Amino acid sequence: MLFAIIIGIWATRSMVQLDRLFINFLEHFLNPLTCMMRRVRNILIFCFFCSAAMLQAASEADSLLRELGCGNCHNGVVSSEVVKTKAPNLSFAGVKYRPAYLFSYLQNPVRVRHNIGVARMPDFAFDVRESLALTFFLSEQRKLPDRVSPGSKAGGAARTSSEIHKIITRELQCTKCHIMAGEGSNRATDLSTAGYRLRQDWLTLYLLNPAAFEGTDAGMPRFFFEDEENGASVHGIISDAEETAASIGEYLSAMGESKLRKLAAEFLTAKKNYANITAKMGERIFLSQNCLACHRLDGAEPWFNRNGPDLSLESQRVRPQWLRDYFSETHAVRPFGYFPGSGSRMPDFDLNEHEVEILTKHFLKGNRGIDQREPERLSPYAMKKAELLLRDKLSCLGCHRLDDVGGRIGPDLSRVSKRLNGPFIDMMIQHPRELVPESIMPEIAMQPKTASLMGNFLKQVHMETTPLGYLSLIDHRPFNPKARGNLYREYCSVCHGIDGSGNGYNARYMPAVPVSHSDATLMGQRADDTLYDGIHGGGVILGKHHFMPPWGETLSPHEIRSLVAQIRQLCRCEGPAWSR
Ligand code: HEC
Ligand code: HEC
Ligand code: HEC
Ligand code: HEC
Ligand code: HEC
Repeated sequence: MLFAIIIGIWATRSMVQLDRLFINFLEHFLNPLTCMMRRVRNILIFCFFCSAAMLQAASEADSLLRELGCGNCHNGVVSSEVVKTKAPNLSFAGVKYRPAYLFSYLQNPVRVRHNIGVARMPDFAFDVRESLALTFFLSEQRKLPDRVSPGSKAGGAARTSSEIHKIITRELQCTKCHIMAGEGSNRATDLSTAGYRLRQDWLTLYLLNPAAFEGTDAGMPRFFFEDEENGASVHGIISDAEETAASIGEYLSAMGESKLRKLAAEFLTAKKNYANITAKMGERIFLSQNCLACHRLDGAEPWFNRNGPDLSLESQRVRPQWLRDYFSETHAVRPFGYFPGSGSRMPDFDLNEHEVEILTKHFLKGNRGIDQREPERLSPYAMKKAELLLRDKLSCLGCHRLDDVGGRIGPDLSRVSKRLNGPFIDMMIQHPRELVPESIMPEIAMQPKTASLMGNFLKQVHMETTPLGYLSLIDHRPFNPKARGNLYREYCSVCHGIDGSGNGYNARYMPAVPVSHSDATLMGQRADDTLYDGIHGGGVILGKHHFMPPWGETLSPHEIRSLVAQIRQLCRCEGPAWSR
């Protein structure tokens, strides 16, 4: 874009200089008219270049979003097939990768392929246990492509390593595309890493028939066999293809040995320290993070189509500085998932400054109309009153954190003034379902005066709290809250637990234990109408804790009745005889 502007200015300038020669000459005669026409023409030229520059900026943002695959997790952004041709197929990850490498890579993904442009593997901030679980899960993926047979185990031919080095760098010229120990050009992957990344058997299989594994636009040439319709036939160049491939595999593996030893030691320690981690946990993490947005893994059914917020309203929602900082370094906003309970995270793409700028501009397009008037200044007394309302009367802190109290379902409200535009805060308090229809944040009936007090409070409050990270995907079991259109699962299980036993992931942040709906003795004492009233009007109606939210403005009477019926199924009990 800068380039286009510079060209624009330069072109306008040189035109100006050219005209000057003969315009000076004409000036005396046709003075006023030419002067005006010249101006108009110069303005037109400049406009042309400016609009070209703007178009280019728009298409730059579009192509960046596509290459990175943002729209595969977010509505309101172009979705992308491109990224699916760049991210490797994980269906046979267990045959391909060394588990010790996966374990380390998932905690700290680094660039591997240099042939995929700006596409990259983002960082999900997995900790040791989460990566361990994912590693176990990926290592179970052992489905070889149809056209590959594990076949004869050719040993490497007895060649010295300097002979193989020569084959790699000269005869087959692998280093035309691959870099290896600093030698060659970096247009694919670094072959010195192949030894600790990739299993030796797989290396050999791959070298013999790379096309069978790819299904991407990768373009590793076939050196040994032509991939013909009916079986493979030997390529002319090499007579002892299998032996040569095996020796290359052996050579590359030896090259990675010392690094592999280090990775293996770390992996082993983790396995010993966390013996309770299973592949099943890894599968849940894989699905909860929507890895399938970019990767193929045959047989895996995605939980979601999109698992992040709709970004079409982003320009109305957030403050420019917040967005810029967020793109520079993401952090947890909704601690256990956009759909609470799903555990979904916004991964960090390690964007460079230029990319941050492009994306910030793109998402802030159209926020000119935002009303950024200063909020009504509240007196310290009014501030205190608002805080006490939140702590002692309203249900908001059942789901939100404020300072040292509150749940982990919605975003932390302690510093929401830094994140959100004022009008958005007001709207979110009064009409959350209109702004974010997918959200479980309920409409809560409030006097207009109270609503505006809350709004003004949140627009000014700034409490120094330690930022919340994402909750552990091991300590809390991520699930798909939207599965099967089950209302209890979507709205209640975050506190009451999927099985109704009162142990949802948010329960530990509640000052009162969310009631166990599977407790037949307790639920047997409640009439259906009592349950209905509690759900409709919230905990306060029943003289219970106010952190139990009221759902009457959000769910229909029919939906609330079906929730009562679901509670009856969970406790396998009926209300007291008098109430039936
Ligand atoms: C694997 C799925 C995934 C991908 C890919 C992804 N995101 Fe996200 N994104 C999320 C999730 C989940 C959240 C919600 C995180 C939270 O609330 O802490 C999120 C949050 C955001 C937010 C904050 C929205 C708000 O105001 O709360 C922005 C902005 C955003 N993503 C932009 C992007 C951009 C730009 C890209 C591409 C570079 C991208 N995302 C790629 C899943 C994804
Ligand atoms: C014309 C360029 C080119 C040449 C020459 C070439 N490669 Fe590749 N190679 C690639 C590309 C492109 C990929 C795909 C990377 C990807 O998965 O996206 C690749 C992939 C690989 C991989 C697996 C990638 C991985 O790490 O997952 C190995 C191993 C490999 N090449 C080894 C070799 C060897 C050994 C030679 C020489 C016999 C060779 N390559 C020659 C371009 C080339
Ligand atoms: C936004 C798209 C995107 C998402 C979401 C994504 N990946 Fe990736 N992943 C990539 C790309 C692109 C690469 C190739 C990066 C490279 O070669 O530098 C990659 C590479 C990988 C690799 C291979 C590394 C190697 O050495 O070949 C593994 C393993 C992996 N991803 C696992 C995961 C898992 C597990 C998840 C979900 C938690 C996930 N990815 C989510 C885009 C994505
Ligand atoms: C049942 C849980 C729940 C209750 C009760 C609840 N909220 Fe929320 N709230 C959420 C969730 C979830 C979101 C995130 C919506 C989204 O995905 O953008 C949210 C978002 C918000 C936001 C926007 C925050 C941001 O950073 O994007 C504000 C402000 C807010 N709530 C205020 C309130 C107030 C004030 C109350 C009480 C009157 C309240 N909430 C009650 C769950 C709840
Ligand atoms: C933010 C957490 C939270 C969410 C979300 C939540 N609850 Fe509760 N609920 C509680 C807490 C805490 C209590 C216990 C209050 C007490 O014992 O003082 C409670 C109590 C109740 C009670 C009263 C039980 C009794 O003792 O009579 C009912 C009924 C109930 N919840 C139903 C629901 C239903 C149905 C949903 C979903 C629509 C739901 N709750 C969502 C936290 C929550």
